[in-house]
Amino acid sequence: MKFRLLFWIIGLLIMGGPLMAGPFDLVPLPASVVRGEGQFSLSRKTVIRYDGALAQEAVMAVKMLEPVLGFALETEVSGSAPENGVIRLQLNQPNDRLTGTEGYLLKITPQKILISANTAAGIFYGVQTLRQMAGESPAAVPAAVIIDYPRFPYRGVHVDVSRHFMPFASLFPLIDQMAAHKINVFHWHLVDDQGWRLEIKKYPRLTEVGAWRVDREDLHWNSRPLQKPGEKATYGGFYTQEQVRELVKYAQERHVTIIPEIEMPAHAMAALAAYPALSCTGENLGVSPGGVWPITHIFCAGKEETFHFLEDVLTETMELFPSTFIHVGGDEADKTEWKRCPLCQNRIKEEGLKDEHELQSYFITRMEKFLNKHNRKLLGWDEILEGGLAPEASVMSWRGEDGAIAAARSGHYAVMTPTSHCYFDYYQGDPSLEPPAFGGNITLKKVYDFEPVPAALTGEEAQYILGAQANHWSEFISTPEHLQYMMFPRLAALAEVVWSPKESRDWDDFSSRMKTQYARYALAGIPYARSAFQVKAHPRLIPETKSLEVEFTTEVSHPEIRYTLDGSVPGPVSPLYTGPVAVTRSVTARAAVFVDGKSVTTPLSRPFFLHKAVACPVNTRYPNSSRYDGSGAYTLVDGVKGSTNFNDGNWKGYYKDDLVATIDLGQPTSVRAVETHAIQDIGSWIFMPAGVVVEVSPDGEHFRRLGSATHAIPVTAAERILYDFRVKKRAENVRYVRVTARNLGTCPEGHAGAGQGAHLFVSEIVVN
Ligand code: ACM
Ligand code: ZN
Repeated sequence: MKFRLLFWIIGLLIMGGPLMAGPFDLVPLPASVVRGEGQFSLSRKTVIRYDGALAQEAVMAVKMLEPVLGFALETEVSGSAPENGVIRLQLNQPNDRLTGTEGYLLKITPQKILISANTAAGIFYGVQTLRQMAGESPAAVPAAVIIDYPRFPYRGVHVDVSRHFMPFASLFPLIDQMAAHKINVFHWHLVDDQGWRLEIKKYPRLTEVGAWRVDREDLHWNSRPLQKPGEKATYGGFYTQEQVRELVKYAQERHVTIIPEIEMPAHAMAALAAYPALSCTGENLGVSPGGVWPITHIFCAGKEETFHFLEDVLTETMELFPSTFIHVGGDEADKTEWKRCPLCQNRIKEEGLKDEHELQSYFITRMEKFLNKHNRKLLGWDEILEGGLAPEASVMSWRGEDGAIAAARSGHYAVMTPTSHCYFDYYQGDPSLEPPAFGGNITLKKVYDFEPVPAALTGEEAQYILGAQANHWSEFISTPEHLQYMMFPRLAALAEVVWSPKESRDWDDFSSRMKTQYARYALAGIPYARSAFQVKAHPRLIPETKSLEVEFTTEVSHPEIRYTLDGSVPGPVSPLYTGPVAVTRSVTARAAVFVDGKSVTTPLSRPFFLHKAVACPVNTRYPNSSRYDGSGAYTLVDGVKGSTNFNDGNWKGYYKDDLVATIDLGQPTSVRAVETHAIQDIGSWIFMPAGVVVEVSPDGEHFRRLGSATHAIPVTAAERILYDFRVKKRAENVRYVRVTARNLGTCPEGHAGAGQGAHLFVSEIVVN
């Protein structure tokens, strides 16, 4: 509060005259916005007048403003002409300490618009803000003083173009959007097991062979057999060096630095398909068409050729990318081959290393020396901490924040990109309403609530946190449109996290500003996600009355939620939701958010089952996994079936064990059918029960078999599948029902986890 007041006073001094406080719908929110009186009218007569050193920024300003104005403004270098009716781009003399290296002052009066900054980047960001303000009504840009600068110097977006190739032309609009969000780093994940996408002149096979894989797009990512002899590799693509230069320049003009990532020692199967001799075994496994786990086929750390090759590759990479940081991956290297390889073992001995972790550290440190020699800095995933961090390395903390904490405490820089908040390949809404995603659930609000500085760090250590980054891994993202869908609007939330002052974070305010941001996306033709408008139902079991109380929520602030309980589609005059709704019989609840009288998303549809076993005691022979406890004791009999998200709080998970559950119905009951609700999600190693047996008993001691049920769902099925194992048979005088669902025990052949433990998940046992 104090913070905002200070700026308000600064604004007051700059503007003179009476003021209204309050931001416009700017995203990310500037450090300070003070509204003035009147407005500036942007027209064809408006001229962009610039300091000589800002010629390039003037060109960019014309380009940036043209889509919102519908015409291109004239520019002229600043001279002695009067400055009314102009957009003035001006470098500060001397530097202004407050706005720093990327900040700006944007002062709009009825006479003139001034953008001043210490740097060209600051001017550029001032123009981005002006573009947002002008977008609403160019002829009446409201008078204001905006003082703005970023909270963090590293504001990143990562895109994986290996798992799925993104056409070259599709990258330009992404850079434009990054810039519009004041993002300044594009971390380009150019190589991985599933494709090498960067032309390297010295090693043409990297793209002749490494850029192409057999097309198994019709199979689940984690069930794609490797290339067979004689099979043609037809899926893929790569970027030529000429294209890379063009994109780098385009990004530079928009103050976006492209950091290339060349993965080592793992995620290298595409490179090893081209140059098999660089692995420990020399085997050629081809370019993997899908998921590989664990990742054992990696560069040999014992062969000198490996280092020569990688140094050559990095040499050409550095020629293409002027970024200070070069990302060398370093993640998820399984050391199985290194343990067996005489050359790797020899290296461990010769270098006096303790183990394979230290061998990885040797590997990365050696690459770092090479990069440092060329005045570059090494950046790597947090596994580069294992076995000892290279002396100058910076860490990208993805497995939570521990990597960043360790780095900062030892005086190394870190970029935050934890799976908890920054993995934009995860679901952003109800998985049953979303296109298939990697898993997890990172909603718009979850991103907005992200705090990049780990609480465990002291103020001094916190200086080592450079910023944060959104990661777009593309296992499940195969088109540019889908990539944009995953990126927007979550990038708006991340932009605010990394740019805006921490003190000004306010979800309600952001949520209301996003209405305008959505209109900007629509104007730019971005297929953004509306998942934040989805309605969620939160049923609460009332054991005493064996009924439910259902709350409806959505992420957006002040929603107009309308609902029905008869299964019909809610319309603009359906009951308005004002508080928890009682459900006393089996119904299907439907609900949607309405904006301006229209439903914004596919309405929620949630059935509730008030069956004979609801709120009855359940005993299980084997405990469920502690991580997958659903909602506790009544999970299997709470009237609620789980969704395709096994983490939605409705599922009990059993690792390797069977589910054997005995339900006490409390009194002799007549039973007609028993249904067991299960899920298969092979990407998370969850398989359908092999079969389900239902037994009944009058006394809890003598059980007789009521029936059994199996299924015909292939263990390779790509989608998440829900299935009810139904045993339909009458029985009287039943007090106890025992359900046995058989776990496969291990993941089947052909699955990425073949031979390792399998999960079984059940959400409800419906007794009718
Ligand atoms: C990663 O997600 N393997 C960095
Ligand atoms: Zn080796």
